[in-house]
Amino acid sequence: MANAEQVNPLVPQIGKIIKIVEETPDIKTFHVTTDKGKPFTPMPGQLAMFSLLDVGEAMFSITSQGPEHLELAIKKVGMLTDALHEVEVGQAVGIRGPYGNGFPLEMMKGKDLLFIGGGIGLAPVRSLINYTIEHREDYGRLWIIYGARSPADLCFKDDLFKNWPKVKDCRVDVTVDKGDADWKGHEGFVPAFVEKLGPKPEGMVAITCGPPIMIKFVLQSLEKLGFKDEQIVTTLEMRMKCGIGKCGRCNLGSAYVCLDGPVFTLAQLKQMPDEY
Ligand code: FES
Repeated sequence: MANAEQVNPLVPQIGKIIKIVEETPDIKTFHVTTDKGKPFTPMPGQLAMFSLLDVGEAMFSITSQGPEHLELAIKKVGMLTDALHEVEVGQAVGIRGPYGNGFPLEMMKGKDLLFIGGGIGLAPVRSLINYTIEHREDYGRLWIIYGARSPADLCFKDDLFKNWPKVKDCRVDVTVDKGDADWKGHEGFVPAFVEKLGPKPEGMVAITCGPPIMIKFVLQSLEKLGFKDEQIVTTLEMRMKCGIGKCGRCNLGSAYVCLDGPVFTLAQLKQMPDEY
């Protein structure tokens, strides 16, 4: 049973890793639960503080959830994440949250949704994709455009190639910067792929997350296709430390990514200093 309702987001809970999925050579998805069930019930787009005793803690997006567990997809990028990539099922961890605001579910209701992800950037977007699949009647058509550097770098392959294409009115298009001998799909960068596929902006909201350089060019591509700033949503995860508006590390002008985001519309981002 989930213990979400009684949870104080500032108090770490002792969790346990119950499953590890090797997504790519440097990304693993960790399924985490506690003795009382799911640590908490996040909204899509929210974050968790995740820790390994004696090593450290950091904020990660929650990529999905089940009735009894949370899923965090974590890329090897430093001391904590290197150590996490060495642990095995059964490892005790600390987890607290949820942090940040999730995606604007009400604003998206009744709309067609275009998800554009690059690399590990699909992780936060996946929480929203799975939510909209669970609440299929509340949303229009779903279109997922995803890219990675190579076929080996594609995350969530079961979802991309098996689960999501089976969902009613859900289209999935995948590209890699450079294929290998076995790759039969599209080759090329995500922004150019988006332009080539040419989604129509009428009645649609675009949600994008990925490396900053990809986001920059995806935003330009969406603009060329006629999307307005209010129709474009992105999620930022940079520089967060405390998660509760105390350390000042995540500020963009007067806004804090941890309190006011991490999800912003492009219209909101354009009001802020160009530091994201
Ligand atoms: S992470 Fe500390 S103020 Fe936002």
